[in-house]
Amino acid sequence: MQILEANNKNILDAAAEINNGGLCAFPTETVYGLGANGLDAEAVAKIFEAKERPTFNPLILHIADIDTLNQIAKIENDKVYELIEKFWPGPLTLVLPRKEIVPGIVTAGNPTVAVRMPNHPVALELIKNTGVPIAAPSANKFGMLSPTEAKHVAKQLGKVEGLILDGGKCTVGIESTIIHVEQKGFKLLRHGGLSINELEIITGKLEKKTEISERPIAPGMLAYHYSPKIPVIFFDGHPTNMKILPDESGALYFRNDPSEYNFKSVKILSETGNFYEAAANLFSKLHQFEEEEVNRIYVERLPETGLGVAIMDRLTKASKKFGSTK
Ligand code: TXA
Ligand code: MG
Repeated sequence: MQILEANNKNILDAAAEINNGGLCAFPTETVYGLGANGLDAEAVAKIFEAKERPTFNPLILHIADIDTLNQIAKIENDKVYELIEKFWPGPLTLVLPRKEIVPGIVTAGNPTVAVRMPNHPVALELIKNTGVPIAAPSANKFGMLSPTEAKHVAKQLGKVEGLILDGGKCTVGIESTIIHVEQKGFKLLRHGGLSINELEIITGKLEKKTEISERPIAPGMLAYHYSPKIPVIFFDGHPTNMKILPDESGALYFRNDPSEYNFKSVKILSETGNFYEAAANLFSKLHQFEEEEVNRIYVERLPETGLGVAIMDRLTKASKKFGSTK
């Protein structure tokens, strides 16, 4: 994939690429997406191939206007309009009953479709210029770190045919919050860039679907996900009780470095303890550890309030990949 500056001309070229059945990675406020024409099953198949993603995992359709929402999904719960009014464009994905026009490969055969209006001028321009909803998962190999900069996409998907629109660093930095819309209520499928405290003002108390199955409703529900290539381990109890090899390891702290060890590399998510800043930095710091080739990443737990819940969800899943239970 070739990185192009996200100027008007390149956005038009990228839209043409998508309309021709090709792939284009583009920035959103959450993470970079790997986009294809969401109404073209063959084009969408290329996304699964590029990501090496199992086809039982459905994709989000990205839209730029409410007319398109009505073409692809049914709204049978009036509170959806309140959610849209308040949170779109933004980091909220709604899973709604689908309409026939949506290809089965997008929904993985489910009777529902996930839809989101991203809050990023490049994404919105791109979608408007294609005139179709854009199917886009995060632009990473399946199960690996999500990309929050164009170069992260090139690192994992460099060999794939297509374009990468470079719109700088994503401001939210973690994926959208996903909720399943039922006729009478809502269920939480994935914690993300919109904290559920804000959502619950409209939806009422959100219960999380917790079952982990062969065919999870959202891959964010798989036991591991969002993983760097190196083991992630939580600092638990006093670090001297753990077999820490600081010289070769990295450490990721929330707000400050207690400087107890000589880690090869130390990173801080937010010196002021701001969850928004921490979320925006999370994946880029983990990508940096990969580039520095540390052999382990020790991470400090964050308080699980507000966006801290979504950040801890990503870190916990990352820690599962290499069998660490902590
Ligand atoms: O912020 C985001 O959501 C980013 C940007 C690019 O928009 N996208 C993203 O896509 O994170 P992806 O594919 O990495 O995660 C989408 C999640 C998956 O866990 C998928 O299973 C779930 O959405 N999903 C999609 N369609 C669904 C459906 N019909 N029912 C339940 N879950 C669905
Ligand atoms: Mg993803």
